[in-house]
Amino acid sequence: MGVISSNLSSWFSSNPTIKQTSSTRKTVNLTLKTGKSPCSSAASNAPKGSKTSVQDLLVKNGSSRYCLCCPRRDSLGVLGTGLPPVFPSFSADEDPMAVVNRIHPPRPDWYEEIYALAMEKATKAYEAEIAGYKSQLFASLRGKVDKILEIGIGTGPNLKYYADYPGVNVCGVDPIRKMEKYARAAAENAGLSPSNFEFMQAVAEALPLDDASVDAVVGTLVLCSVKDVDRALQEVKRVLKPGGFYVFVEHVAAKDGTILRFVQGILNPLQQTVADGCHLTRKTATNIAEAGFASLDVNEVVLSTAFITNPQVYGIAYR
Ligand SMILES: C[S@@+](CC[C@H](N)C(=O)[O-])C[C@H]1O[C@@H](n2cnc3c(N)ncnc32)[C@H](O)[C@@H]1O
Repeated sequence: MGVISSNLSSWFSSNPTIKQTSSTRKTVNLTLKTGKSPCSSAASNAPKGSKTSVQDLLVKNGSSRYCLCCPRRDSLGVLGTGLPPVFPSFSADEDPMAVVNRIHPPRPDWYEEIYALAMEKATKAYEAEIAGYKSQLFASLRGKVDKILEIGIGTGPNLKYYADYPGVNVCGVDPIRKMEKYARAAAENAGLSPSNFEFMQAVAEALPLDDASVDAVVGTLVLCSVKDVDRALQEVKRVLKPGGFYVFVEHVAAKDGTILRFVQGILNPLQQTVADGCHLTRKTATNIAEAGFASLDVNEVVLSTAFITNPQVYGIAYR
């Protein structure tokens, strides 16, 4: 595991809504306070006092709106014209699969099969390294949630952390149907009854759930892949009950000017081709911080098994 050491103070002083609560050399912990947090921070035990910074983390220039690697969006961003959004709006009576296919156009069967298999088989070392962080996040929700939505559930690597919450019901959404068999197996292995698990082919930008219908939304390594990060976050907020939790782990762009950031810029187009539209240069923590959650705890870590998908931010946003 690597080390993050930076300086938050200048960013905080220019942004009154975000307050530094604690920090360590390995993680940066922020709390955005615009309302009452329904539970204590997952990272509130970290030692206080050291000066750290995630200024880059919180400056939006790799988001879906200003993406440097997607020519269409980039040109819109450069033009700065206030043109219509990239996605036309969708209505409640539109065919749900038409929405999915518009936002996440289907790939060839063989591509989706290989991608799902790769997610199942090639992420073991990463999952082992991130396990401690995920355990900490999910432990703080135990006993507080019944209905959980997981966006971009993929092969279901998170189910084992919350399948044994008492009486939990889980809905996993993913645009790639090939993920379903792995996610179902993961649910079963984690001890979740089939009647308490549902898989829906859907996208985070247009969730097929009612307003204020779930206690928690989980999303790991998903906002790198969605077409519209801000819209997905608004959907997360919409379906969360007041006081609900959004638990996330996301990889983000490395600090500007670093070799890693340079490499990410070079490899970004290739990454999107081989990994179903995954962006390496998004500053997703900024999107989350600006999405309008009542409060937010976010931490940053560098993982030895994540290579170019470093650093990663993890935390909980409170509706
Ligand atoms: C890198 S995988 C992560 C899967 C899983 N969450 C994990 O942690 O292993 C990204 C997942 O996001 C899904 N995805 C891509 N676009 C999406 C969208 N617009 N809405 C929801 N999920 C999406 C992909 O199908 C894939 O399962």
